[in-house]
Amino acid sequence: MKTVNLGFLGCGNIGGGVWHLLNEMHDEILARDGLDLRVKKALVLSIPLARTDVPAEILTESAEDVLTDPDIAIVCEFMGGSHPAADFMRRALENGKTVVTANKMALALNWHSLQAAADKSGAGLYYEASVGGVIPIIRALTVSLEADRIDQVMGIVNGTTNYILTRMAREGSDYAEVLADAQKLGLAEPNPEADVEGMDAAYKLSIMSSIAFHTRVTVDCVYREGITGVTAEDIACGREMGYTLKLLAIGKRRGDTIEARVHPTFLPADHPLSRVDGSLNAIFVHGAYCQDMMLQGRGAGDKPTASAICGDIVCAALNERPQRASLRYTEQPDPALTLTDDWTCRFFIRVSAKDAPGVLAAVASRFGQEGISIATMLQKGAGVSGRARLIFITHEASEHAMRRALAALDPDIAAVESVIRVEGE
Ligand code: HSE
Repeated sequence: MKTVNLGFLGCGNIGGGVWHLLNEMHDEILARDGLDLRVKKALVLSIPLARTDVPAEILTESAEDVLTDPDIAIVCEFMGGSHPAADFMRRALENGKTVVTANKMALALNWHSLQAAADKSGAGLYYEASVGGVIPIIRALTVSLEADRIDQVMGIVNGTTNYILTRMAREGSDYAEVLADAQKLGLAEPNPEADVEGMDAAYKLSIMSSIAFHTRVTVDCVYREGITGVTAEDIACGREMGYTLKLLAIGKRRGDTIEARVHPTFLPADHPLSRVDGSLNAIFVHGAYCQDMMLQGRGAGDKPTASAICGDIVCAALNERPQRASLRYTEQPDPALTLTDDWTCRFFIRVSAKDAPGVLAAVASRFGQEGISIATMLQKGAGVSGRARLIFITHEASEHAMRRALAALDPDIAAVESVIRVEGE
């Protein structure tokens, strides 16, 4: 039997979930793995305001009690945010303590210095719960698929936005209406910006694609568009044309070029990701040898997150040598690989156009001048002021060429209302 003392940095919803799992599963983990896991200290902001289901004698308001206690082997960080969480994790690693975290923001922004501290002291840095909650994507990429060449990671990695888009699609409601309701139900944060503007997904994509492509894909390299501009009309038009709208985090490698982007995306209705609804997360991976695979599960919530975190704790406690991916922990991307913002994909374009002879030809001609070929077109009869809605789905086209074509359209003839990228065909 091996006794392993744990220290918590933070003890809110996630810390409480981990505390309960460790209590409930203590004897089973002891019997199965020979590990006696004990929480020795838990840092909280205020002991009088702390949750009451965790014993008062382990609570502390001093981070030093966790970071410098020689008996604590594993520090579990549940504070959220980049600072002071990253500084505390770095200090724990420098002190030779293994760190387990679910904090995608702190990890994505400080990965280099955290991993450098871990490498120097020989401690482990584990972060399975940082992407997709309970979905074991980090272990899949770093262990199971380590021998493969991964060329695509594409996922629904934000439950809040998937919940909002699912309800908009089902009810035909507008974004603001569904968001307000989701906030009332506690399913969206009072300040939803990090979720709805795609930041949360961008941190997760930075982590996933860095591991998948064995290079550093920093958050500022991730192109990002959130869901605040999505309309019920676009979702309905897409559905009529056989597509489902999702906020996707997409990392692709084509030869020596890498792209990383988060944006609303139309997928064919029969694509596996199209069927992932509500607050569920799912990540679709393609590799030269593994080919297509998809992992699906709960991306948030105290219990699923606790499951992933405790999996890391057990893994760290059982393995003297920390597991790590063959990522080059440089500040900058691998110079042999180029990060591009000129990817190719299909596009859904909705314009409000004059309903008059020659208008369709004028739009098609602009696309043609940029080498963009139209695959499907739908006209919705003339609306107010004699203008019609024209919806185009293009064949694969370059992002830059599409931007040039749209910028060259005369808004009096055809005003661009929506540009949504199409994937998965
Ligand atoms: N806010 C995230 C989501 C969960 O809505 O999925 C934590 O990463």
